[in-house]
Amino acid sequence: MKIISSKDYNDMSKKIANIISAKVILKPDSVLGLATGSTPIGTYKKLIEWYNKGDIDFSSVCSVNLDEYCGLDKSHNQSYAYFMYNNFFKHININMENTYVPNGTNTDAPSECQLYEEIIDNLGGIDLQLLGIGHNGHIGFNEPSDCFIKDTHQVELSQKTVDANSKYFDNPKDMPKYAYTMGMGSIMKSKKIIVMVSGADKSDILKAMVTGPITPKLQGSILQLHPDVTIVADEAALSKF
Ligand code: F6R
Repeated sequence: MKIISSKDYNDMSKKIANIISAKVILKPDSVLGLATGSTPIGTYKKLIEWYNKGDIDFSSVCSVNLDEYCGLDKSHNQSYAYFMYNNFFKHININMENTYVPNGTNTDAPSECQLYEEIIDNLGGIDLQLLGIGHNGHIGFNEPSDCFIKDTHQVELSQKTVDANSKYFDNPKDMPKYAYTMGMGSIMKSKKIIVMVSGADKSDILKAMVTGPITPKLQGSILQLHPDVTIVADEAALSKF
């Protein structure tokens, strides 16, 4: 795993945006694997800024997102489809028909998961996958477990996740109990992976993910086996190295 150190969150976001931008310039029809959460917001802002300056063209890009809550329509303000549209897609010239997020309203979980794997395969796989990491080492909604799950699947959210995220809902009771997520196998098939990590609160998990044993108890640790992973982290997140 290659590690790129950055001064702070801003610097990290700029470096990651540069990597994504270079990828899109080299391969205008890149398939980008995208994430939600707080960490990528600065990166999306930089990319929007450069798009507005005319430095980057997303018209041929396709995107696939890691995960989505089950039961939420894309118009729900807590759905990840809504997040992507409002924080990124509506500000750039990506063709919305080329953007994919698991369909949270599909109640037929096996068919939705199979369809999502087919979408990724039909696009020719992911050229560059952007990942954040949870405080417990989760990637997407692949939470600590006794095994790694290969393909896109439905997960029952842990009580911890429900408690942490329900505060963002107008009515906390509306917080979904299930989500769809790419599996670690779907993610590991990506040609290149960028992991973005910011903040001292992620320093222990980052150190364990990179130098500790490969274990499903820390899902991100399997990234050690991928041939092209770059971690872009700020100094606070790298403070335990
Ligand atoms: C979101 C996702 C999650 C986040 C992780 C870190 O699509 O896949 O695994 O990347 O929870 O979230 P933040 O960036 O909010 O710390």
